[in-house]
Amino acid sequence: ANVLSERIGPKGIDWPSALAAHAQRLEAARDALWQRKSDPAEFLGWIDVPEDTETLRRVLRFREAQAWVEDLVVLGIGGSALGAQAVAAALGKGPVRLHFVDNVEPEPILELLRKLEPHKTLVNVISKSGSTAETMAAFLAFRRWLEDRLGPDWKRHVVVTTDPAKGVLRPYAQAEGLPAFEVPRAVGGRFSVTCPVGTLPLAFAEVDLENLLAGARKANEQARAALEHNLPAQTALLHHLFSQKGQNIVVFMPYSTRLRYLPDWFVQLHDESLGKMRDRAGQEVRTGTTAVRAIGTTDQHAQVQLFREGPHDKLINFVRLLNPSEDLEIPAVRGLEALDYLFGKSFFKLLDAEAKATAHALAKAGQPNYTLTLEQLDAYHLGWLLQHLMWQTAFLGELWNINAFDQPGVELGKEYTYALMGRRGWESLAQELRAEGVE
Ligand code: PA5
Repeated sequence: ANVLSERIGPKGIDWPSALAAHAQRLEAARDALWQRKSDPAEFLGWIDVPEDTETLRRVLRFREAQAWVEDLVVLGIGGSALGAQAVAAALGKGPVRLHFVDNVEPEPILELLRKLEPHKTLVNVISKSGSTAETMAAFLAFRRWLEDRLGPDWKRHVVVTTDPAKGVLRPYAQAEGLPAFEVPRAVGGRFSVTCPVGTLPLAFAEVDLENLLAGARKANEQARAALEHNLPAQTALLHHLFSQKGQNIVVFMPYSTRLRYLPDWFVQLHDESLGKMRDRAGQEVRTGTTAVRAIGTTDQHAQVQLFREGPHDKLINFVRLLNPSEDLEIPAVRGLEALDYLFGKSFFKLLDAEAKATAHALAKAGQPNYTLTLEQLDAYHLGWLLQHLMWQTAFLGELWNINAFDQPGVELGKEYTYALMGRRGWESLAQELRAEGVE
């Protein structure tokens, strides 16, 4: 399968010499990542997850035993929802409807609760920390709703995915005898799509999980390879070099409506991993580039004007499919001969022409871009792409000497929320907020 980018090395960089100049650094990054992966404190467990076929078998057995499910509700946020949502939108099929509750806005939750039939609904609460306020609030609501309608049978309708030990969900699942899957200790939320965080909901969406993991293993092979075949090291270098040249915005733009949620997953992976105030030595560095979502062709009619004529502060990463899974011919219609350039051509040909034309038009305007190509949109190639992007993020973390696997910047907001919600132990922070006029 051709999963390699066909156009590495956009204009603006002398690619062979850039690669040669950074070879030592990239090889050191590669070796460091592979060496550190056995240390759980390094949060590199996502590298090995695609090898874990035993857990996948457990997930599939669990799914088979729940043939009664018609609606699966995923309660999770950030890394605990976006991966499954992206893959389900791209490849999901089958009779089970998936619903993602990743916000605490009351109206959509009420709308969903009014629509669901409790006897046919399974709730998968997913939280690595087992304590995220949004997910916990949603769980409290869905648990009460299930118990009110089903009595003690509610327990058959909940499955938990959480840390092996930490948080409130693990002991709760044990105490109530709920089925529970693990987010491995060394796997952080945004790197968790190939573990049960992603695979359990995706099993209900009938996604070919064996091949999803096989694709991820292919990306692992590339990430281990010598530099000339090491695609994530190369794309990380592109991001690094262009960020140094002032391209502080990264546009992630697949040409596919089926991949419409993939940019959301990428934005979270990229921004939360790489936007860091301090390097590993504690020095203030303020790293990061801002990832932006776009979908081709749709956003050609929204953002491409800015991409082409606005400031050259962007690196655009297109994702293009090389083959459709089905195609449709554009018919000839008498009286509309002005459109005869379309007659008899296929929709995929038009989509592909638009992708190539846009990339070329941007390159001509001096707007750097590169394209990752997928032979087709299936589980194998999507698994590859997800893992490739995780590797790219890890390589960038190494190049910038930061910890790509923590998120200290979101903690203070969480603390303030606890204080505003009256959580025990947060009284003095609540007082501080009141003094600052936040109530
Ligand atoms: O990537 C991350 O670590 C975060 O985005 C988390 O996934 C998100 O905050 C949800 O956390 P949790 O799974 O602990 O509820």
